Amino acid sequence: MLEAGRKSEAGITLAKPLAGGRPSTCGDRPRDGMPSLGSAGGCPAPWWLRISTVNCLDQHVEKSPNRVALIWERDEPGTAVHVTYRELQDLTCRLANTLKKYGIQKGDRVAIYMSVSPLSVAAMLACARIGAVHTVVFAGFSAESLAGRIMDSGCKAVITYNQGVRGGRTIELKATVDEAVKNCPSIKHVFVAQRTDNKVHMGDRDIPLEEEMTKADSICIPESMDSEDVLFMLYTSGSTGKPKGIVHTQAGYLLYAALTHKYVFDYQQGDVFGCVADIGWITGHSYVVYGPLCNGATSVLFESTPVYPDPGRYWEVVQRLKINQFYGAPTAIRLLLNYGEEWVKKYDRSSLKVLGSVGEPINKEAWQWFYEVVGEGRCTLVDTWWQTETGGICIAPRPSEEKAEIVPAMAMRPFFGIVPVLMDENGEVIEGNDVSGALCIAQPWPGMARTIHGDHQRFIDAYFKAYPGYYFTGDGAYRSHKGYYQITGRMDDVINISGHRLGTAEIEDAMADHPEVPETAVVGYPHKIKGEGAFAFIVLREETAHADHIKEELKTIVASKIAKYAVPDHILVVKRLPKTRSGKIMRRLLRKVVTEQSSNMGDVTTLDDPSVVKEILDAYQKYKEKNSS
Ligand code: PRX
Repeated sequence: MLEAGRKSEAGITLAKPLAGGRPSTCGDRPRDGMPSLGSAGGCPAPWWLRISTVNCLDQHVEKSPNRVALIWERDEPGTAVHVTYRELQDLTCRLANTLKKYGIQKGDRVAIYMSVSPLSVAAMLACARIGAVHTVVFAGFSAESLAGRIMDSGCKAVITYNQGVRGGRTIELKATVDEAVKNCPSIKHVFVAQRTDNKVHMGDRDIPLEEEMTKADSICIPESMDSEDVLFMLYTSGSTGKPKGIVHTQAGYLLYAALTHKYVFDYQQGDVFGCVADIGWITGHSYVVYGPLCNGATSVLFESTPVYPDPGRYWEVVQRLKINQFYGAPTAIRLLLNYGEEWVKKYDRSSLKVLGSVGEPINKEAWQWFYEVVGEGRCTLVDTWWQTETGGICIAPRPSEEKAEIVPAMAMRPFFGIVPVLMDENGEVIEGNDVSGALCIAQPWPGMARTIHGDHQRFIDAYFKAYPGYYFTGDGAYRSHKGYYQITGRMDDVINISGHRLGTAEIEDAMADHPEVPETAVVGYPHKIKGEGAFAFIVLREETAHADHIKEELKTIVASKIAKYAVPDHILVVKRLPKTRSGKIMRRLLRKVVTEQSSNMGDVTTLDDPSVVKEILDAYQKYKEKNSS
């Protein structure tokens, strides 16, 4: 696709081998007289084969080593740390050599359970540099979720912090890792970095990361990788079963992340790019780390929350760091608009050129506020639709188009190479405009996931079976009379809480652990701030006066088995669930109940006992009255 020696449009240099087949950075000496373990020999393979970290680091270090790669906006306001490309390369190489010293090799899997920081970015790039596969686990996930991901991917090591810091609170990351790895025999080492000064327990397999990095060589020759070798995997939720390890590969992913970063955000050299996502999600991978770094941008790492220490935090950061592109989630915008405009207007936002929204549908009110108040009606606002599986943005307006043409709250246009189609219930392509259907993509694109780790059949079943010959996204969409796309939401049992994707089955599985609760059914309901929340219907083993206590226990179970954000906002006890004659729960009816569309329940003839509908509606009504008083 790209020729060696040519520059792609995104500026990815698949460079010609330099004289002697050696990249110039091979000759760099370790800094500050750090002891060298002697890895600076020859470069064993052609330069253009070492894809990810060479494109994200070495090519920029060669040309502008002192350009700032990362600005770490730490939780503590006003304590930003700037890291240049040379420094990031140094960190990455030392970390890579440390991993190698402890036996991590090409193809091994490494879990990263860290809050956002230059060291966590270096951890990702260090894995890439030695050909290991990173799997970043969002640092808000519980020990059990972390353990599940480690076991499924067979990780050899975990990289973590002693503690995390967010919104003024410390988070016990190392303690969670300790709990998780108790039952993970594949883990040989836990590398522990220090985010705070607090001491944590260090066991036999724990290695103090910074101490080792100080001793390590600052040169690490990148491993030769094939374009289709795995770069990383990232777990995400589906409508059934456990989270799946989505696999992305070296060249296609990086190319797609870089291209979309450049064109969707109109990135120009010298811009400060502010994506406030966590690296634990695909948005962080593609638009905090790989896309911006491949393009040589200055990428902001935001460790805090939108309301710490006050609701002006984002805009104070925009002013102080002179951010040019700001990319965030609708859930934060909805939260902030409740605090009023003064928190925004207090700060100078004249540096902003493009605003972006991601992860969930953005409602018109939030779009307008983002556009008018934050962007002063001057910046382009792009609503970007994509998924963990797509690797990068697939549908979004482009800033180059006439601003007046951008339609509020619409993802609008496919990116180059993306061919969206809408399908009807019979699996036929819907032609024409002003139509809705299941959103599919008709031809492959460079950034698409290649498989689900360890289960290629599941990959085929989940994405290619419903509409043979097409990639099925799981989302529904509307195509307007002008041919623009608007995402209407998931068509399966996946919900989106504050932009975090979750299978309702995962919550049900967690709650099934409670001995008093034999049956549960979870559905999403519209939530003013979070976009969607979880509403759980439960059946108790026997009538009890302690139902409230059981509900609290269920919440604790969900938090400890998945994460706090997964805890249902509402738990309603019902006598029985609506089931078909074959025993399948009809969640569709429960969704109608919680979205208050009970006047249009649709076909209920397949229900085992249709009187269950009235029973549940009455219980819901009572619950609502009780909770509104
Ligand atoms: O339902 C869509 C929603 O988020 C899902 C993908 O979630 P995840 O893999 O976690 O990736 C999130 C970040 C890319 C999609 O199937 N979604 C994502 N972006 C939008 C969206 N829904 C509406 N509008 C969007 N812009």
